[in-house]
Amino acid sequence: MGSQNIQLDQTGKLKHFLSIDGLSRDLITTILDHAETFTSVSERSSKKVPILRGKTVINLFFESSTRTRTTFELAAKRLSADVMNINLESSATKKGESLSDTLKTLEAMQADMFVVRHQDSGAAEFIARQVAQNISVINAGDGSHSHPTQAMLDMFTIRKHKKTFEQLRVAIVGDIAHSRVARSEIHALQILGVPEIRVVGPKTLIPTAIEKLGVRTFNSLERGIDKADVIIMLRLQQERMRSALLPSGREFFNTFGLTKEKLRLAKSDVIVMHPGPINRGVEIDSKVADSPASVILQQVTHGIAVRMAVMSLTMGASVT
Ligand code: CP
Repeated sequence: MGSQNIQLDQTGKLKHFLSIDGLSRDLITTILDHAETFTSVSERSSKKVPILRGKTVINLFFESSTRTRTTFELAAKRLSADVMNINLESSATKKGESLSDTLKTLEAMQADMFVVRHQDSGAAEFIARQVAQNISVINAGDGSHSHPTQAMLDMFTIRKHKKTFEQLRVAIVGDIAHSRVARSEIHALQILGVPEIRVVGPKTLIPTAIEKLGVRTFNSLERGIDKADVIIMLRLQQERMRSALLPSGREFFNTFGLTKEKLRLAKSDVIVMHPGPINRGVEIDSKVADSPASVILQQVTHGIAVRMAVMSLTMGASVT
């Protein structure tokens, strides 16, 4: 996709963070290594470093978010940046102002970074192409296209538990069709050398051409998670489904919900992940979500360090 051309500056350094697709293994590893450094900052009693002191970060969320918005805000604050959250429910876009004019207004306030979540695929790249040269744009999730910082925090979590990627069997389960997380994960896992990536779900929720991305598809949960090292469960994105693709949440749970019994088919040291928000009793049973195999809350914690890494690297700030 075209975004890799504008993600990097002329010297190959990260300028915007819009998509995993097209990033090098070295760059992804650099982000993970920087995040490791920031993990130790977050564990101190004083959690701040002056890396982005004097910089202004604007959180521009056109779609609801709990985890991503708050962890971006915490990450920016821990880097000592000034952070503004724009309430788009009461912003001028609701009064008919165009996105371009809203961006120009925020640029006039000398913003240094926009963190963007938008319901339309391609919105973050559109904004990155519009803004002034000095501004970095980070994609916090655009439509069903991409959620690159979620993929990075998931790679960070997998590396913490499994150390390397080269021997892993990873199953991504559920609503693949509408998931920006699944797309970003598949790219990241491939770049990092995971030999077997499986996508698991009903035919109606798996895009027909997904095998072209180098994954194996399974329409049976039992076969799809057999001997898996990592299981990534996804939420059913009912808000993005244009027609009824499923009989009911209960029926989905009976077939594709992850229960303790089904989890036994995976490896004994399997980790279970979920980007959240989780729907207990729809895609995952509480006994799995709250079990020792679940690393769902660790993913949230890791999101802060990973976002600190992405923010500092796109701003060209050194991390030592
Ligand atoms: N994982 C994720 O993007 O969650 P939020 O929608 O709460 O940000």
